[in-house]
Amino acid sequence: MSRIIVVSNRIGPIEEGKAAPGGLAVGVYEILRATGGVWFGWSGETVDQTPQAPSLQTQGNIAFATVGLGRKDYAEYYAGFSNATLWPLLHYRTGLIEFSRDSLAGYLRVNEQFAAHLARLIEPGDIVWVHDYHLIPLGAALRRRGVTQRIGFFLHTPLPPRAVMRTLPDHRQIFGTLSAYDVVGFQTADDADHFSDYMVRELGASRQGARLALDSRLFKAGVFPIGIDPDDFARTAAVAVGQSATRRLIRSLGERPLVIGVDRLDYSKGLPFRFRAIENLLGQHPEWRNRCTFLQVATLSRTDVKQYRELRAELDAAAGHINGRYADYDWTPIRYVNRSFNRNTLAGFFRHARVGLVTPLRDGMNLVAKEYVAAQRPEDPGVLVLSQFAGAANELESALLVNPFDVGGVAQAIIRALEMPLPERTDRWRAMMETLRRNTVRDWARRFVESLTANRADMRPAALSGA
Ligand code: G6P
Repeated sequence: MSRIIVVSNRIGPIEEGKAAPGGLAVGVYEILRATGGVWFGWSGETVDQTPQAPSLQTQGNIAFATVGLGRKDYAEYYAGFSNATLWPLLHYRTGLIEFSRDSLAGYLRVNEQFAAHLARLIEPGDIVWVHDYHLIPLGAALRRRGVTQRIGFFLHTPLPPRAVMRTLPDHRQIFGTLSAYDVVGFQTADDADHFSDYMVRELGASRQGARLALDSRLFKAGVFPIGIDPDDFARTAAVAVGQSATRRLIRSLGERPLVIGVDRLDYSKGLPFRFRAIENLLGQHPEWRNRCTFLQVATLSRTDVKQYRELRAELDAAAGHINGRYADYDWTPIRYVNRSFNRNTLAGFFRHARVGLVTPLRDGMNLVAKEYVAAQRPEDPGVLVLSQFAGAANELESALLVNPFDVGGVAQAIIRALEMPLPERTDRWRAMMETLRRNTVRDWARRFVESLTANRADMRPAALSGA
């Protein structure tokens, strides 16, 4: 089997035995362990001088190759074009887009640097798997350096319709480079459709069966919804619920059921709307005051980006306002926590929570939704309230699906979840757990790599093969 070169902006933990932070790392590790290979990415550090070569650390048959980012690169490539331009665009938030020629140039420059490092690491039989929106032009940069091996790209975020993609200045220069990949993978069929539509109508690609042809390249779009390891997460949750953090949480709640939300503090997650839904619940349904507790973990994220700082201020005010209005001397309606917790602790919290609230305005997949389901007690499961705009809604149809903009509707769904009888909770949970078991993170990684390594004879455009 070919060696795999995985490229992502952030890489999994390098030290052996350290808990993987979540889904992507688990799936990628497994497949790398099976085939051997390299995981290349940003070290997470900013440095004074752009490094000449990546630093290498090996773990068994996997080499981790990491580079620091110079301060200008960090500002332009990461905080700028990736997270202040592409992230809002990909999440349909055109009003939040900030664009500058400098950050575009920085984005292209860092992708070129990464390609230069990678071209030296790639060997003849390798395949390359690139992840996420930070690295869209990487495939084309590798092709320019003569890399002819198969290269696949997986987008973890949504891809919006063509009309939204066109709001990006120079969008063809960015999105057109996706044709350099052999396989471009998405979380949902809608995302893949938006991609094909953009390629055909904006760039003039032609459809050749299931593939797209553009200039001299033939490539395919595929749907590969990312999963988790549900049985492993269930085991983790079963252990964690008896450990000190969850025990303390349970004691602090008294008899009140827990409604939990766990997100990065990101505007795509819809937290202001979620808080308004809680306010609506307490205002319109006073019988629930002092009878349930909402815990929102909102881990600080991308604090160098202005939109994130503004959101933080908005949420601080909203939580203070709601608590000031509805709290009592023995109860706080919203526990709003900006710190992060490790995966095990969260698993225990999920298991105890009667309701899991996952209400993004737009989300590629959302693995918290899947983890919440996997963490439940089979004999007494909680209920997932899930935004119809999360990729996970395509699979978790037995959740209570909501429109996150409809705060009254979300409040109703929370109450329905709190009051749901055990047989209905069990039926819904079983259906979702089965779905999770049918498409684990291992299946996801395997399916993508299989698609990338599929017979290449049919990968030549009809026009080029002389046929
Ligand atoms: C999303 C993106 C990932 C990113 C993660 C955390 O899930 O799809 O690529 O790594 O957010 O964001 P950060 O900017 O901290 O890497």
